[in-house]
Amino acid sequence: KQNYAWSGRFTNKMNEQAFEFSKSIDIDKKLAVFDIEGSLAHLKSLLKAGIISKEEEKSLRNELENIKGKIRDNSFQFDEFEEDVHMAIESVLRKKFSFGGKIHTGRSRNDQVALDERLYLKDATQKIITEIQKLNRNLLKRAEEHKTTIMPGYTHLQRAQPVLLAHHLLAYINMFNRDIQRFEDAKDRINISPLGSAALAGTPFNLDRHEVAKILDFSGITLNSIDSVSDRDYVIEFISNCSITMMHLSRLAEEFVLWSSHEFSFIEISDEFASGSSIMPQKKNPDMAELVRGKVGRVYGNLINILTIMKALPLSYNRDMQEDKTPLFDSFDTLTACIRISSMMLANCVFNKEKLLEATKRGFCNATEIADYLAEKGIPFRKAHEICGKIVAYCVSKNVTLEELSMEKYQEFSEKFEKNIFSRLNPSSSIQLKKTKGSTSFKEVLNQINYWKRKFRKA
Ligand code: ARG
Repeated sequence: KQNYAWSGRFTNKMNEQAFEFSKSIDIDKKLAVFDIEGSLAHLKSLLKAGIISKEEEKSLRNELENIKGKIRDNSFQFDEFEEDVHMAIESVLRKKFSFGGKIHTGRSRNDQVALDERLYLKDATQKIITEIQKLNRNLLKRAEEHKTTIMPGYTHLQRAQPVLLAHHLLAYINMFNRDIQRFEDAKDRINISPLGSAALAGTPFNLDRHEVAKILDFSGITLNSIDSVSDRDYVIEFISNCSITMMHLSRLAEEFVLWSSHEFSFIEISDEFASGSSIMPQKKNPDMAELVRGKVGRVYGNLINILTIMKALPLSYNRDMQEDKTPLFDSFDTLTACIRISSMMLANCVFNKEKLLEATKRGFCNATEIADYLAEKGIPFRKAHEICGKIVAYCVSKNVTLEELSMEKYQEFSEKFEKNIFSRLNPSSSIQLKKTKGSTSFKEVLNQINYWKRKFRKA
């Protein structure tokens, strides 16, 4: 007869393949340190409730600390005959002390695993916030360097209007800052302790749930023991937040890929973050950016994975939920790696100022200036837009730019045109003339830079 912690009511040994199929130790051993933190807090609770003696508490605590040390320096041998991390750690205590099994009084792996995951997520969430902050600092640094660098802004990937490169980079800071806010906001829902919910119904032992929550630095406790063990919203929300950040990273990555192409030539990716081709000697490929773009698929997949695991599960705990760990850990690992590599790539690339400016000179980026100019002179904007459209069509047919038309030609389209139209056509004055808050004007971009500088100094 085998001696699983739960095998009392069984006559026959578990089928070997069934055991292999159902064990999760290879994956959930990542939770080991958190599992021990939880057990240490639970011990105090057991002591206070008079379930274990002072001596027993001390022996179990020392052994748990001992295991924690070994896990930290990677020397702990996880017993492969134990099905999960909780059993692997508990069994050391049971083997060593006759009273070792007392540790599981008033506790179930159902509340234990929820606790471990919440502890993992507190840590993971803070780590991700820190990584995004570093990325945003790099973006701000590059924005400051390029607060006068002019480039075409795009809509539909068609040249639209001149903007400052700094303005474009600041757009990303806003996106990533919202990501930080989302991770921050989720902390409230992660940061509550489920311990004491036991299997689903609570426990007859007089365990002080608030005390345990305090020891583990939770801000409170979950309110319903059934919900405590059947809830995986915190995993779903975390991966959902990771997915949004990955989506933002993929947009940055895509621009790296496009901008480093010969067609754009807006940036040169540094050698350290590019790779070559084994057949085409001239190639310098933006592989890191492409991989970030590609890895988005994994994180979105993880989100669908956990949503599907949880769909239609009856309350409360079901073993299906053990499958939550792979998508959870993979999302954290993938996102962390992608933020780091994007941040480094960004910090080390060279922006080609001349090419960026040159790109504003073709493609009628300044056409809106003409429409705005006529509108300022009292022509209704729709009419001004139409006149300008005709001018552009004329230029396209003659293969000339708006700057190359003569004064007479302009006046053929509208007698409102005066000599000063020509000064409006250069990209710098187009930028200079923007007046609205949050616009691409030199002054507004500087304001944005200073806003983030103040904010990052406080953070
Ligand atoms: N390894 C399990 C999990 O991660 C722990 C909880 C198991 N509970 C149970 N009743 N079998 O979900």
